[in-house]
Amino acid sequence: MELSAELSKLGVILIDDFHLEAMKIRNLALSQDYKNAPSNDKPGGGVAKRVHCNNEVLKVTVDKVARTMGIIPSMNAMEFRYSTINTHKKAVCHTDMGAGQYSGFIYLTLPEHCQGGTSFFLHKDSGATSLNQNNRSLASDYRNPDAWELLATVEMKFNRCIILPSNLFHSVATPYFGESIENARLTQVFWFSKAKATGN
Ligand SMILES: [Fe+2]
Repeated sequence: MELSAELSKLGVILIDDFHLEAMKIRNLALSQDYKNAPSNDKPGGGVAKRVHCNNEVLKVTVDKVARTMGIIPSMNAMEFRYSTINTHKKAVCHTDMGAGQYSGFIYLTLPEHCQGGTSFFLHKDSGATSLNQNNRSLASDYRNPDAWELLATVEMKFNRCIILPSNLFHSVATPYFGESIENARLTQVFWFSKAKATGN
């Protein structure tokens, strides 16, 4: 899939066929015990069930991100998450600001079940595509459908990784689907910063 010019400009990176052993990672994800999202009233608060990834998954992911981006990633957190057709979207969009410089998602849903993906938004009144120290009040519009214009959607594809600056306005592209973890939206998500450049 070609990234649109808009998304390239925003600094979004797409890595297809991310994991060498994607089915092994998916099967590991299927075998975990998940917790509900913490109940919070943050406007962009998460809704997916989640569990921390183990050190093996952490290592293969960090290595691949390092090779692809030419950086040493300093990983802040890494989780498997899933959400079924019974999930209710709380906000048009949100940012992951504060979790690290970058957010990453890897889709682990099988090809025959993939729907939706990840969408990116423009705040209409301000023209902003990301949150920063000077426009934090825009977060109060997360649940207002009239405040946002859809910029682009990256389609869900098994073993596709999206990396984005964590302060971009983004969201799950619906529909939610599937009755169980086996056929629902299943992702590996992580947040990291650049420790330093490699090779110099
Ligand atoms: Fe997010």
